[in-house]
Amino acid sequence: MTEIMDGPACGSCGSGDSAAAAADDQDRKIEGSLSKIKHKLLVMSGKGGVGKSSVSANLAVGLAKQGYKVGLMDIDLHGPSLAGIMGIEGALNVNEEAQLAEPKEVANGMKIVSMQSLMEDSDQAIIWRGPVKTGIIRQFISDVVWGELDYLVIDAPPGTGDEPLTAAQTVPDAKAVIITTGQDVALADVRKSINFCKAVNMEMLGLIENMGPYTCKCCGKKVDLFKSGGGLVTSKKMGVSYLGGLPFEPALVEACDTGKPLMGEDSDSEFSKAMGGIIKRITERLD
Ligand SMILES: Nc1ncnc2c1ncn2[C@@H]1O[C@H](COP(=O)(O)OP(=O)(O)O)[C@@H](O)[C@H]1O
Ligand SMILES: [Mg+2]
Ligand SMILES: [Zn+2]
Repeated sequence: MTEIMDGPACGSCGSGDSAAAAADDQDRKIEGSLSKIKHKLLVMSGKGGVGKSSVSANLAVGLAKQGYKVGLMDIDLHGPSLAGIMGIEGALNVNEEAQLAEPKEVANGMKIVSMQSLMEDSDQAIIWRGPVKTGIIRQFISDVVWGELDYLVIDAPPGTGDEPLTAAQTVPDAKAVIITTGQDVALADVRKSINFCKAVNMEMLGLIENMGPYTCKCCGKKVDLFKSGGGLVTSKKMGVSYLGGLPFEPALVEACDTGKPLMGEDSDSEFSKAMGGIIKRITERLD
């Protein structure tokens, strides 16, 4: 099924004044929500399939396991995948009176909001007009009871379109975590993400190279499935910190498909150890 969602009123039909008042009211609610969240991380990349959602989920779970209060917000409206990766099901609970939604809560008190939690059918394709996307992302902040958080991890869709732009404008103190693989094509796109951050004045926390060397389970030899090392070179060239590299981890594919992020399950894996190092670098920088 495909639905087309249209934008707000044009402003010349008489509904413009009330729309402006509603936007002001929403601005205040957004400010209120954000004031209770210490650190906001926007996970982005130039290219799809490089592991943004996997990294967002594992970063959030790793932080939550260390005792931080963590929220995870999926703003990939067309291809939401965090609900699946985190193993949550069903729609959000909405308090009709207060017009507020309760995020889904998982282990360690981590709170999650995903577009998936709002769709009746997860295979539904929705065609969103730009203003509608902006409205939904703003609502994810204004109308959701996030409460006090140490970290809000925001999983963005690939590229530099409406979603990351809205996130950057709505959450002015968000810091970007940019994900790439070592492939030349991914690195070419990552430079666009870096330039996007510079253009919207968003601080970059750093770059992560995902899908690095795979360690053969039989002989322990490290095999590069994608090129590796390009992330570090690019970060140096572009003047962005390098947060670290994550290995290619076949168990992660299964973990994502079964809704059990590796950081929550298998803390001995190379991937979890590398992720632990990245989390340490992030918390040391921000705490
Ligand atoms: N380090 C990794 N090792 C192995 N598979 C990975 C790794 N990171 C991501 N994947 C897999 O790659 C696919 C795309 O990852 P995903 O996180 O959905 O990317 P994105 O959100 O950037 O589109 C998923 O099947 C995921 O399980
Ligand atoms: Mg994704
Ligand atoms: Zn081998």
